[in-house]
Amino acid sequence: MIFYFSGTGNSAWAARQLAHLTGDEAYDITNLKELPDMENAKQIGFVFPVYAWGAPEIMADFVKKLPKTQVFTFGVCTCGGDAGLTMKQFSKHYLLSSSYSLLMPNNYIIGSDTDDEGEILQKITAAREELERMAQEIRRQERVYRVHEGALAGVKSHIANFGFNKFARSAKPFFAGDSCNGCGQCVRNCPASTISLRDGKPVWAAQCLQCLRCINGCPQLAIQYGKATARRRRYTIRAYLLQDEQI
Ligand SMILES: Cc1cc2nc3c(=O)[nH]c(=O)nc-3n(C[C@H](O)[C@H](O)[C@H](O)COP(=O)(O)O)c2cc1C
Ligand code: SF4
Ligand code: SF4
Repeated sequence: MIFYFSGTGNSAWAARQLAHLTGDEAYDITNLKELPDMENAKQIGFVFPVYAWGAPEIMADFVKKLPKTQVFTFGVCTCGGDAGLTMKQFSKHYLLSSSYSLLMPNNYIIGSDTDDEGEILQKITAAREELERMAQEIRRQERVYRVHEGALAGVKSHIANFGFNKFARSAKPFFAGDSCNGCGQCVRNCPASTISLRDGKPVWAAQCLQCLRCINGCPQLAIQYGKATARRRRYTIRAYLLQDEQI
């Protein structure tokens, strides 16, 4: 049983690949009406993106309410660079037998440009291999800690992460430009129900998860976040999936 949260598809893809490779099922925590029966689960896994060297609040809140288990548990955080102490902190909410980070294309368009085509393809190709290796270790129930923490991990995961959650979760800088055709995709897909249509154009409430699904996924490339994003590339994993892969 693998629970996942994903903004732009990286973690959804990784969760589904791992489920396929370990004979398990993957569940999007934002679509769960009720918890699946965990009694007979052979393993419990979690897959999610790194947000400012920590787990997304929605995932941390989810696991805090989950019944504890005796079975093998594992967590995978997907990240564009380094994960800091994300997995050690997550393991305090829900004890993990194994922890991994998985390097994936960067979707944080607010902070810098997303990866170019070459980097994206390179990362996804390497991730496919790493997922195979992880799946073998998970099937053998080996205890592994393979997390790329990076430099100054403690400072990033404590101070920078605190700053992100306190000051950088505003949705106010989001707006839709003239190319928006009012299709409503961003409204339907927002996992925090932060967006609504007013006079045929999206408007954002005050705070959100900062998953960046809306800005990266708009088919018209109409969404911006302040002034910085106008010239930056958008990223979602959909364009890079193989025929038999899904999210
Ligand atoms: C708000 C936010 C913060 C992020 N912080 C980090 C970070 O601290 N370290 C990192 O390596 N990647 C960071 N990223 C990049 C994502 O973790 C990475 O692209 C991830 O694979 C996206 O997964 P998803 O497609 O499942 O949403 C951040 C992305 C967002 C949206
Ligand atoms: S997804 Fe893009 S085009 Fe569609 S309503 Fe939202 S901003 Fe407008
Ligand atoms: S408003 Fe955009 S960035 Fe914020 S939670 Fe919704 S989809 Fe994600």
